[in-house]
Amino acid sequence: MSFDLVLFGGTGDLAWRKLMPALFQAFRHGKLPPGGRILAVARDERSDAEYRAYIREKFGGVEEAKQPSDEEFSRFAELLHYRRMDLAQPAHYAGLREWTQARGADTVVLFLATSPHLFPVICEQLGAAGLNGPHVRVVLEKPLGHDLPSAQEINRVVRASFREEQALRIDHYLGKPAVQNLMALRFGNALFEPLWRRESIANIQITIAESLGVGTRGDFYDRTGALRDMIQNHALQLLTMIAMEPPSTSDADAIRDEKLKVLRSLKPFTPEAVARDVVRGQYKAGTVEGKRVRGYLDEDKVPPGSACETFVALRTEVQNWRWAGVPFYLRTGKRLAARDAQIVVNFRDVPHPIFPGTRQANKLIIKLQPEDGLELHLLAAKGGGASLQGAEVLTPVSLDLDFDKAFPTDRVGAYERLLMDAIAGRLNLFVRSDEQEQAWRWVEPILEAWAADALGPRPYVAGSWGPAASSALVARDGCVWLEEQ
Ligand code: BG6
Repeated sequence: MSFDLVLFGGTGDLAWRKLMPALFQAFRHGKLPPGGRILAVARDERSDAEYRAYIREKFGGVEEAKQPSDEEFSRFAELLHYRRMDLAQPAHYAGLREWTQARGADTVVLFLATSPHLFPVICEQLGAAGLNGPHVRVVLEKPLGHDLPSAQEINRVVRASFREEQALRIDHYLGKPAVQNLMALRFGNALFEPLWRRESIANIQITIAESLGVGTRGDFYDRTGALRDMIQNHALQLLTMIAMEPPSTSDADAIRDEKLKVLRSLKPFTPEAVARDVVRGQYKAGTVEGKRVRGYLDEDKVPPGSACETFVALRTEVQNWRWAGVPFYLRTGKRLAARDAQIVVNFRDVPHPIFPGTRQANKLIIKLQPEDGLELHLLAAKGGGASLQGAEVLTPVSLDLDFDKAFPTDRVGAYERLLMDAIAGRLNLFVRSDEQEQAWRWVEPILEAWAADALGPRPYVAGSWGPAASSALVARDGCVWLEEQ
């Protein structure tokens, strides 16, 4: 199957930091279909050779195991082309159409890795130039809007030129191997399904913790904040994967219909519920992984006195028969103690304890980062261990599955996976417009309540696990976050 992949924003950060390394890995693993071309599009004048040299240099910053040798790069570089485009110029789109038509590839994937304010003009122009035939797919990278009306507006413009199944919205968390494994665990095995419900599960915690700060993106981040940057998309997508009903098939729409139902079942926030169930924080100076770091307000390009949140913890519920009353806690933040992303499914305690001492319930931990794997926490009898009144004191043990060790040669990164799916037209891991809009609808009351609340975010020390109110939020239900156990 031949393909043309066109990267709008071809010299930008996303292109060289994530997309090119992912494409190279796919090429190295023999996963890139033969007969492909990759065309980078940007504003400035460059030749193909200059663009290839630019990307070669950028590979210097990629982790060592993922760097190409000179020989590998020169083979990969044969796929790379460059084209200057003024995105407002219809003639430039006509030129692009001719470029693709001259070759007549089976599939054309147009990846919009530009700033989102350019999506409307690009989509309109692509439609006007006839670059929207059935063999064309457009890939949109977040942020897709900053609230419900702006997301709806982007979707309206995209829809004017492309059908829903031609528009692929990326949430790169869906491309992470752990998310594939979550689907496999839930729907490829019969073991957990009887337990996957309110009768057996006490609560579910989804944490996406980052040790990095906002880096050089202070101005972007300050207009965004943790709720829009991580909760509205990545954390909610993880929640849908955990909470969805088994789909009737593995078709994209069968899966996305079930995810949408979860989003529609999330308990809506009232202003009182926001005050009670949502904690927002902002990091102060502190020490992260042994290094002193600045507070958010001292980061480059952050406006003085900003009330932007760099941390969110919240409690919600999925209002249906399976999950009624089970708290779902979502938490994300920058400059936390560690880079750590995981989903913890806390099972209920035994109904009647006969072993003294230890009272630790079972838990299943789905680890996304830094490694991906599964841990099932059980209690076991060590044998010869301490006993109390003649009964064994049980010891916590865990069954561990480390996917890097289990499948050492088959690891595929999130962007690699999603790019290959976009080329092959597999839509399962892309977000449908109705899911995305529903997620915005759900976060809107939080944004509104914060806008009306003069208190602003709670401070937390960089290198901690967020404001104390985050621990208090879960403690109200008698729970603790994993790292506090
Ligand atoms: C992006 C956010 O979507 O995800 C960033 O905009 C964040 O702020 C990043 O750092 C985290 O992704 P990952 O894959 O490194 O956990």
